[in-house]
Amino acid sequence: MTQNVLILPGDGIGKEIVAEAVKVLDVLKADFGLDITITNGNIGGAAYDADGHPYPPATQALAKEADAILLGAVGGYQYDDLPRELRPERGLLGIRADLELFSNLRPAILNKELADASSLKPEVVAGLDIMIVRELTGGIYFGEPRGIRILENGEKQGYNTLIYKESEIERIAHSAFKIAMKRDKRLCSVGKSNVLEVMELWDEVVERVGKQYPEVELSHMYVDNAAMQLVKEPKQFDVMVTGNMFGDILSDAAAMLTGSIGMLPSASLDANGKGMYEPIHGSAPDIEGKNIANPLATIMSLSMMLRYSLNQETLARKIDDAVERVLKEGKRTADIYVEGQAGTTLVSTSEMGDAVVSALKS
Ligand code: IPM
Ligand code: MG
Repeated sequence: MTQNVLILPGDGIGKEIVAEAVKVLDVLKADFGLDITITNGNIGGAAYDADGHPYPPATQALAKEADAILLGAVGGYQYDDLPRELRPERGLLGIRADLELFSNLRPAILNKELADASSLKPEVVAGLDIMIVRELTGGIYFGEPRGIRILENGEKQGYNTLIYKESEIERIAHSAFKIAMKRDKRLCSVGKSNVLEVMELWDEVVERVGKQYPEVELSHMYVDNAAMQLVKEPKQFDVMVTGNMFGDILSDAAAMLTGSIGMLPSASLDANGKGMYEPIHGSAPDIEGKNIANPLATIMSLSMMLRYSLNQETLARKIDDAVERVLKEGKRTADIYVEGQAGTTLVSTSEMGDAVVSALKS
């Protein structure tokens, strides 16, 4: 059956990196029998410019019909003064909530060719392979009440609510335990139960769900310590599960361990495996249009899409192998280029995409 892939390039470098991933998709269609139709839509600032809303009804309709979605990135300086509900980020949060993409998988894997690009010593990161499972449709990002109010004395007060109900914690815990079962069977749940009641409940529910996965070794860590451990001894982790905001922060840190945030893909899944796939980096407006952004995180997001939503493990592997090949050949975009390293060449966004395409074809 033909599957329907929706492409949402978004803003900034989003358009450039997604264009490279689409080259890869086109090859899979033309040469490897991938049976998909590709539809394009707008999200974020681009959607605001076109339709006056960062997640307009037209995009909602396309998203509902899609079997899988590839998203670039959202955000740009020109939108900073818009009311909050019209800003590009709201488009991203909107589609995550609308499609109930509660389970966000952010793998941090160090490609051995890139050990020198990490800001940590190569021996600390060599062989690194962590999966961060971030809750994506709840927590403080969506909790009510929220807002900025004016107090009796005229002073403004901003407030948000960090809130989780048992069912939300249960489903993300199941996601994480299932992933741990397919890996090294170690799960670290990251919270802050020494201060926050909501995280006390988090620990309790994760512990309870864990009873159904007796083979998985479950541990708990406070988020401040987890941040420290990630930069001190990252290889101690297999799978980490955490809430929306903690996961946002820890996944950026984990990304950098691998040399560049430009290397990390992600999958955001609903309860039925429908998913949206995006690089974890942002729209990087400072380098927009310069053809220097790294398209590999987006191309590897495609590989996750093939694996988790389109049931095409063989093609997913082909992409992974092709990416590994171009790195082995020494091709480096600016973010992973180390001056003076033998056998490497600096390449542009489009040259990197072309290199992956020719590796796929050869
Ligand atoms: C991410 C991003 C988003 C988030 C922003 C752009 C809303 O940082 O996907 O990690 O905070 O979730
Ligand atoms: Mg983030």
